[in-house]
Amino acid sequence: MNILITGGAGFIGSHLCDALLKRDHHITVVDNLVLGRKENIAHLLSRNDFIFIEEDLLHEEAMKSIFRQGNFDMVYHLAANSDIQKGGKDPMVDYDLTFHTTFNVLQLMKEFGIKKFFFASTSAIYGETRDVLNEDYGPLKPVSNYGAGKLASEAFISAFSSTYKIQTWITRFPNVVGERFTHGVIYDFIHKLRKNPTELEVLGNGEQCKPYVYVKDLVEGILYVIDHSNDMYNVYMLGSDTRTEVKDIARMVIEEMALDAVIRYTGGDRGWIGDVPEFRYDLAKVNSLGWHAAHDSDDSVRLAIQKALGK
Ligand SMILES: NC(=O)c1ccc[n+]([C@@H]2O[C@H](COP(=O)([O-])OP(=O)(O)OC[C@H]3O[C@@H](n4cnc5c(N)ncnc54)[C@H](O)[C@@H]3O)[C@@H](O)[C@H]2O)c1
Repeated sequence: MNILITGGAGFIGSHLCDALLKRDHHITVVDNLVLGRKENIAHLLSRNDFIFIEEDLLHEEAMKSIFRQGNFDMVYHLAANSDIQKGGKDPMVDYDLTFHTTFNVLQLMKEFGIKKFFFASTSAIYGETRDVLNEDYGPLKPVSNYGAGKLASEAFISAFSSTYKIQTWITRFPNVVGERFTHGVIYDFIHKLRKNPTELEVLGNGEQCKPYVYVKDLVEGILYVIDHSNDMYNVYMLGSDTRTEVKDIARMVIEEMALDAVIRYTGGDRGWIGDVPEFRYDLAKVNSLGWHAAHDSDDSVRLAIQKALGK
């Protein structure tokens, strides 16, 4: 297939490029590098079956020309704002990068008659709840602008899928970890400890408890869901049904870096406004399709730390 991946120079998008190229597809990446990095896809740039276009999805004329020439069979839309704290300070960030990019891509799909669509969604659409999250859980009450941008995106995707007959796969991820990450708790802890190896500041009380999934397991899961579900509109939770506490992540990072650092908690039950202190995934739907992640949450965290440290 001729595939467009938006946000393909980002953390997850670049792994998806690797996986789809292994399946002999032709890939075009559009990414404006606002958060992504060219080095994530540097190893692909010389290939005949890979095109990288540095462009902003909000530039409508440029995007029209890309779609006109691309003749795409399917779009994987991963571009979004991944800096949730930044989106909390300025709501326009998620309005533009998380929501408006999605709307523009949908409009282009409609205009150019593209009939297959994948969307990278998130646990953040659910907001704050102690219930176990599944595909049918509601009401959805996001507490971050990022979660709101994703939920609004899902709403338009549903409407476009139904109105313009676009076959759609949405997978909702928890925290994704592994090579090439540029944000998140493990990334922050390693960077803080490189600056000050004697003390690690942890935002909150360390009891935040969430599922973590290793990026290569996640990408395999995305492709598994697309291969094994064929409704017009397919929604799946994807990730891990086990969880890891932030204080255990702090301990694992210190241990893997062979340091003797003291952990200092800033206090409170969450790291920042918009953070969700805990959530839990019910993966029965994707499990019944036959998919399980190869690594549980603790193993995913440990592996991601080791990969980040070049082990
Ligand atoms: N990493 C996670 O833990 C996680 C969890 C749930 C959902 N997701 C979703 O998965 C997707 C990928 O996330 P990621 O962690 O790889 O983030 P990332 O920031 O590494 O990737 C997003 C990419 O989108 C690009 N982008 C943003 N705005 C753009 C624009 N206007 N035009 C063109 N490109 C633009 C960025 O430059 C970046 O390369 C995102 O949609 C994210 O919301 C990620």
